[in-house]
Amino acid sequence: MTFEQFNHIEALLDNSSSPLLIQHGTVVDHDTIRIADVLVVDGVIEQIADHVRPISEDTRIVDAKGLYVMPGGIDVHTHFNIDAGMTRSCDDFFTGTRAAACGGTTMIIDHMGFGPKGCDLFHQLDVYHEYARDKAVIDYSFHGVIQHIDERILSQMEEMVHQRGISSFKLYMTYTYKLDDCSVLKALTQLKKVGALTTVHPENDAALSLKRQQFISEGKVAPKYHALSRPLECEAEAIARVINLAKLADSAPLYIVHLSNGLGLDYTRLARQNQQPVWVETCPQYLVLDSSCYDREDALKYVLSPPLRDKEENDKLWQGLRDGSIDTVATDHCSFTFAEQKQLGAEDFTKTPNGIPGVETRMPLLFSEGVMAGRITPNQFVSLTSYQPAKLFGLYPNKGHLGVGADADIVLFDPGKQQAIRHINLHDNADYTPYESIPCKGWPLMTFSRGKLVAYDGEFTGEAGDGHFVHRKPFSQSSY
Ligand code: URP
Ligand code: ZN
Ligand code: ZN
Repeated sequence: MTFEQFNHIEALLDNSSSPLLIQHGTVVDHDTIRIADVLVVDGVIEQIADHVRPISEDTRIVDAKGLYVMPGGIDVHTHFNIDAGMTRSCDDFFTGTRAAACGGTTMIIDHMGFGPKGCDLFHQLDVYHEYARDKAVIDYSFHGVIQHIDERILSQMEEMVHQRGISSFKLYMTYTYKLDDCSVLKALTQLKKVGALTTVHPENDAALSLKRQQFISEGKVAPKYHALSRPLECEAEAIARVINLAKLADSAPLYIVHLSNGLGLDYTRLARQNQQPVWVETCPQYLVLDSSCYDREDALKYVLSPPLRDKEENDKLWQGLRDGSIDTVATDHCSFTFAEQKQLGAEDFTKTPNGIPGVETRMPLLFSEGVMAGRITPNQFVSLTSYQPAKLFGLYPNKGHLGVGADADIVLFDPGKQQAIRHINLHDNADYTPYESIPCKGWPLMTFSRGKLVAYDGEFTGEAGDGHFVHRKPFSQSSY
């Protein structure tokens, strides 16, 4: 950093509540792109026009010539501080959101982990409010977690949505608290009634459990058997099944998380052709990594579910981003240290905590491999990383676009900065990145959260506790 730039950043930081004027940038929304100035007052966008004048002596001015000015990223799939049974993920709401901010993300929605057996819907919400309070550096919310279905759980959904601001829920078709089809059907039906979006981790538990048992009994315990025990058909079958269950539940709105393969994508395309309300998320790991990682010495780093797929699946997902059949790119950031936590599975893949870090690298990777590589447009980048997440999860119009009245959650991207990803430069609490050495063209230069500079050129400039819990609006299908 030069001395001149340093002074400039000091000024931006010192007066973080004074007006902010971002001049001459290429302002990108999901459907527009133009050179303009953006004025922020009291943390909210006040004006966007060809030329805007500073409104006071103390207006902070940023010259964004040559930079993309975009809505801050919204990562709707993280797992901070999650209790994974054998261990707890190594990023809490401070280190996780700090990393997010440095990667150009200004809001996260965390998937809450399971609570004690039989607990009600409010239990984990109360626990997670405590996890995030005074720690988050950017805005945050949570998805409700459904571990079982009974009359009490069904009756609590309405209060979660309308009084507690939680308008999406996750259910699992595998793992400890998987729901059977009858419970899935009941959950989908009630969540539609109360105005919530159901998000689903789809994998056929019976099939993968059988395969896992077979491998273990044959002494096949290396990390690659984690992937081989969960073939893409397990995921695609569960996607097809839950799509049909959602149809039976009065066409309940459905959101498929962390899609990893083309067959599953084709099932969602078919449902959408039949006007069914189904939305799809994928993650950078399924776009830029592949199953060859399981042949590496450090293959434990890549144990996650669904697992990485063969290379040809990457291209099918890129095509889905391009043609609009995938709506969002999130991360599923669920980090464990390689030196210690991942080693729990060194002798037996079934003991490896599942998940990888990625909250800081989502925006740079998608910008580089997507926009700079010509696979998607800047507008599609905004749609996938911010606009669609905001629309689907009850945040729009306060977030997800650059418009008058919206929160000043803004990222300035420098398309000219080229740098390879190195864990040493990242801000999470893990000890590795699965993307080590991948070159990126374009990096976030500045991240503003409600007008406050929280990251500058790879340095964290925010503070724990700056983030607000966001009370989300009920899911509205009519906005589609
Ligand atoms: O392996 C993963 N993805 N762990 C996090 C939990 C989940 O399935 O989303
Ligand atoms: Zn999952
Ligand atoms: Zn997840």
